[in-house]
Amino acid sequence: GKGCKLVGCGSAVPKLEVSNDDLSKIVDTTDEWISVRTGIRNRRVLTGKEKMTGLAVEAARKALEMAEVDADDVDLVLLCSSTPDDLFGSAPQIQAALGCKGNPLAFDITAACSGFVLGLVSASCYIRGGGFKNVLVIGADALSRYVDWTDRGTCILFGDAAGAVLLQACDSEEDGVFGFDLHSDGEGYRHLHTGIKENEEFGTNGSVVGFPPKGGSYSYIQMNGKEVFRFACRVVPQSVEVALENAGLARSSIDWLLLHQANQRILDAVATRLEIPSDRVISNLANYGNTSAASIPLALDEAVRSGKIKPGQTIATSGFGAGLTWGSAIIRW
Ligand code: ACO
Repeated sequence: GKGCKLVGCGSAVPKLEVSNDDLSKIVDTTDEWISVRTGIRNRRVLTGKEKMTGLAVEAARKALEMAEVDADDVDLVLLCSSTPDDLFGSAPQIQAALGCKGNPLAFDITAACSGFVLGLVSASCYIRGGGFKNVLVIGADALSRYVDWTDRGTCILFGDAAGAVLLQACDSEEDGVFGFDLHSDGEGYRHLHTGIKENEEFGTNGSVVGFPPKGGSYSYIQMNGKEVFRFACRVVPQSVEVALENAGLARSSIDWLLLHQANQRILDAVATRLEIPSDRVISNLANYGNTSAASIPLALDEAVRSGKIKPGQTIATSGFGAGLTWGSAIIRW
């Protein structure tokens, strides 16, 4: 096989739904402010014993079912997540829960909201260059664990979810992933981060660097919303254009624009810049908020299952976020 195609998708969200009105009870905000500035109305949040990996496994199972592929035939599991249940990575736990026999490779890809696009491109490279046949690409995040629920500037934006696709090797020249553009800019780190707390804070005996160090932990999500907004509106249209160029396609051949679901105003601004009419822009962030690496496969799954996205259609995807990272991939369903 030379090419690869998308043969299944699936998604999963936590049970608890949190509305803007619910949030207005814990921070000084209103449904109107949140709706107008972001387009978000609801989000799902993990509670109790629910875990990110549980959602990821459910989404992956649904993708395998749709593809009619057995878990035993999966030879690579890529988990795109910045919030693993284990610091060492959660992909092997997902591989085990799915029951994939033969110890197929499973590892995490960390690139925040760009993670899924990066995972998809990586999967296509493993298939083309490495002889892999069935690659599960899962985008799953639980930013609720790292949100400061007293900070109205950030806690209104995020939700938890998982989405997955199965990318399969095929003989045809027609590719499921055929043109991409990936970037990062560590200089922009300061605009959006969840850094490890510095060692000094854990010093045990008053010395500058405490020894032995105490356990590591991360800060809450720190974000300069205006800068992130500007960054997204600047780089995403450019990146989609380059990915299209690499795919040898014109803008007019895009059936759907499927961007990382961060903010409706960002989706609108990018579509306007690319001159893509709003009825070809996929948006479900009203129901789920910004679900980081899960947002693109979650929206893809909903659009496929509702019959909106049809077989053979061309979709321009683009992720952007912390790192800073961003990237676009032109895919065919
Ligand atoms: N409710 C009511 N008022 C609020 C709220 C809130 N939830 N949050 C902020 N405000 C206030 C501010 O305090 C400020 O008040 P002031 O004028 O008295 O100082 C005012 O509203 C305006 O705040 P801004 O931050 O300037 O509002 P802005 O229009 O920029 O909208 C927002 C903020 C929605 C965060 C926007 O900047 C945005 O969406 N940015 C992109 C963020 C993003 O997508 N981040 C995720 C990237 S993906 C990833 O990798 C995780």
